[in-house]
Amino acid sequence: MDNGSVLDVRVIQIGIGGWGKNHARILSQMGVLTAICDADSNRAKDFGTKYSVNHYSSLDLLLKSEKFDAAFVCTPTSTHFSIATTLLQKKKNVFVEKPMTYLSHEGDELQNLAYKNKVVLTCGYIERFNPAVALIKDYVKSKKYGELIMLEFHRENRMPLHIKDVGIIYDTSVHDIDTAMWLFDDTPEVVFARSGKIKHDHEDFATIMLGFKDSKVAIISSNWITPTRVRKFNAVCEDAIISSDFISQEVKIETNNGTEIPRKDVAEPLLLEIKNFLAACEGKEELLVKPEHAVNTTKIAEAALLSSQKGTPIYLELK
Ligand SMILES: NC(=O)c1ccc[n+]([C@@H]2O[C@H](COP(=O)([O-])OP(=O)(O)OC[C@H]3O[C@@H](n4cnc5c(N)ncnc54)[C@H](O)[C@@H]3O)[C@@H](O)[C@H]2O)c1
Repeated sequence: MDNGSVLDVRVIQIGIGGWGKNHARILSQMGVLTAICDADSNRAKDFGTKYSVNHYSSLDLLLKSEKFDAAFVCTPTSTHFSIATTLLQKKKNVFVEKPMTYLSHEGDELQNLAYKNKVVLTCGYIERFNPAVALIKDYVKSKKYGELIMLEFHRENRMPLHIKDVGIIYDTSVHDIDTAMWLFDDTPEVVFARSGKIKHDHEDFATIMLGFKDSKVAIISSNWITPTRVRKFNAVCEDAIISSDFISQEVKIETNNGTEIPRKDVAEPLLLEIKNFLAACEGKEELLVKPEHAVNTTKIAEAALLSSQKGTPIYLELK
């Protein structure tokens, strides 16, 4: 793997579970991983041994012994706020997996702390780094197919049994909430949602409508019922319908002149996301996912849950 110029950053990681093991693999390959921590001491030992780095079963123990510049927080959502607060107070650059926090006011606190301590804070809204999304972002920006009018997302899967602390809106729909704001380059004025639960303790299906200015709209449909993994979206533009698959990274463009499948660059979005964060820590690149983007996503997730409880639209004034 190309290490680029990020080798000067010493990185630790907290939480090496189902998703976090991917970060550890990439960070180790980049040669920047110096220590890991997982509350499950066997897991910590296994991955510490695998990547030849120091391992701990608590952040407090790690902090007593390790010197580092940046940290990855890949623990369950309910733990993000306290772990990230501890790290930001110690003036470390922090990457927090999505959603940044469960409560938006906690996200505001993390954002303020990061700015006060002049450190980098980002959140794992990985789809911005998906080459398919990046290509469509370029089309929208250049208006190659006219104005983007409507987005439709389908993110479906069987229920992830290990996720206990949040429902599908905070776990899954947040990816599409962020992607909608990224592609429209705007925040929604209104949120209307219906959600319910069949098998999970929290909501396990949700349809969310985000209303943007000029009647532009994003419809986000997520469920943990479909037995197969579906992650698709359509972008309706004035002169084309662009459809894409987050997994295959394929993009299809349908216009009055026929169908086109542009050449696609396939890349691992997580690698691009990690590289962007580490380059931002070194002051070499602008951060793509800024803390305020992650706070807005949590605010919209809160509004979606409230809307589905009340059965009414929720109007927002996001910055
Ligand atoms: N960006 C994405 O596409 C994506 C995909 C999956 C998960 N995630 C996010 O990643 C995070 C982790 O999800 P997961 O599926 O890996 O969960 P997981 O339950 O598989 O792993 C979490 C790990 O954190 C450890 N842990 C829990 N509390 C801890 C603490 N206080 N200190 C140290 N370790 C602790 C657990 O022992 C476990 O090994 C969540 O925020 C989730 O939303 C993001």
